[in-house]
Amino acid sequence: MRNLYRKPTNLHCNAGSRCSISAVLWSVLGCLFLLHLYSNIDHKDGKVEEVQLRSSLHPQFRELQQAELLNIQIPSPKGKRSPRAAKRRPKRTTTLVDEFMDENSPLRHVFFPGNKSVVDPMKAAGNDSYYYYPGRVWLDTDGNPIQAHGGGILYDEKSRTYYWYGEYKDGPTYHAHKKGTARVDIIGVGCYSSKDLWTWKHEGIVLGAEEKNETHDLYKSDVLERPKVIYNDNTGKYVMWMHIDDANYTKAAVGVAISDTPYGPFNYLGSQRPHGYDSRDMTVFKDDDGVAYLIYSSENNSELHIGPLTEDYLNVTSVMRRVLIGQRREAPALFKHQGTYYMITSGCTGWAPNEALAHAAESIFGPWEAMGNPCVGGNKLFRLTTFFAQSTFVLPLPRFPGSFILMADRWNPADLRDSRYVWLPLIVAGPLDQPLQHSFEFSLWSKVSIYWHRKWRLPQGWSRFK
Ligand code: GAL
Repeated sequence: MRNLYRKPTNLHCNAGSRCSISAVLWSVLGCLFLLHLYSNIDHKDGKVEEVQLRSSLHPQFRELQQAELLNIQIPSPKGKRSPRAAKRRPKRTTTLVDEFMDENSPLRHVFFPGNKSVVDPMKAAGNDSYYYYPGRVWLDTDGNPIQAHGGGILYDEKSRTYYWYGEYKDGPTYHAHKKGTARVDIIGVGCYSSKDLWTWKHEGIVLGAEEKNETHDLYKSDVLERPKVIYNDNTGKYVMWMHIDDANYTKAAVGVAISDTPYGPFNYLGSQRPHGYDSRDMTVFKDDDGVAYLIYSSENNSELHIGPLTEDYLNVTSVMRRVLIGQRREAPALFKHQGTYYMITSGCTGWAPNEALAHAAESIFGPWEAMGNPCVGGNKLFRLTTFFAQSTFVLPLPRFPGSFILMADRWNPADLRDSRYVWLPLIVAGPLDQPLQHSFEFSLWSKVSIYWHRKWRLPQGWSRFK
């Protein structure tokens, strides 16, 4: 009886332990599942959502990484050419860059579509809304073409709003001297605000030109380019840095302005040659630890200089490193991903487009290694001309680590106010295809790719808030 009694007990016991093992297993699995769900669900506690989605797995990101191809035929050179364009390149055969620079080119509509008609497909109704059309005319919420060239974007945590600042160039293009570059008088820094990075409200000119005082840095016939704004957490001020120059680009300085609000007005504080060196194309970068850096082309554009700003962001310190020495790069746009610093730069060919390079570094002070041309898709010439545009800023997409927007300018030297914006997805992912030229070990860097799209949109759920 005992045995008979025991057996079922044992049986019961065995079944029980199996049951409890499977119960434990199921609870562990359940917990893991819940944890997984939790990490992917938006936490709406009124704060910025911390959730980060894996961009590589997101179907809409795969869509962004499918490079679109282009087929543009160069027309026979019998088309009308402007005398100025003919003079510029008298002997060479016509290239697409010549066509791009020629205001009478029959290919004008390829580079500057919808020219003058100001029909903005970015704002088309229905399914086409929220698409970016790189190179088209982009309108603000009042229906006016956006004037924020050579610009950059600040995300304002306080108002949960994006602010886009850039050169307001809505004036006539002219040449100050016979050999001078095409220019527009300073009007000021245009500012636009947006919650969705697509609908842009004009906030006005937040730093205006000086009309009367010829000795003022911002006197209208001088140069104000590439304004960038960063927020100082200690002082609570918005600080703007910009390239300040005279019409011949010999002053080669940086200027600083300050405001209590992201929408200005900014109070101009003055200019300097940083660290005593000439400074032309520039940007500022605020690191995760709150230290901000000024990065500028120097020594006649032959190298870049990088130096930290003072705590209040209003000045440079005495620390400066020379990087990309002898490489003649400009239009720097810096960003960071998983502790590595990246930078996109252009070559130095004025308003004419040229080939972009991506660079990477473990420390912001370098050494910076060139990783080659990041452009993917379009066609070869599109890739060799950065899609006929020049870098100005790289904006991280908050919830998709490794995903950014490259902001670039498609300059229109015949009519600078009609320069266009080329924003494209920039993705840092996977190892480099090729070992680096100067690296004897395996590459440390992830590949940076900028994908050409005739039209594209941000993936669903990109936003910090719903
Ligand atoms: C480019 C520069 C622009 C502007 C232009 C003038 O090289 O990136 O910001 O200065 O030259 O020609």
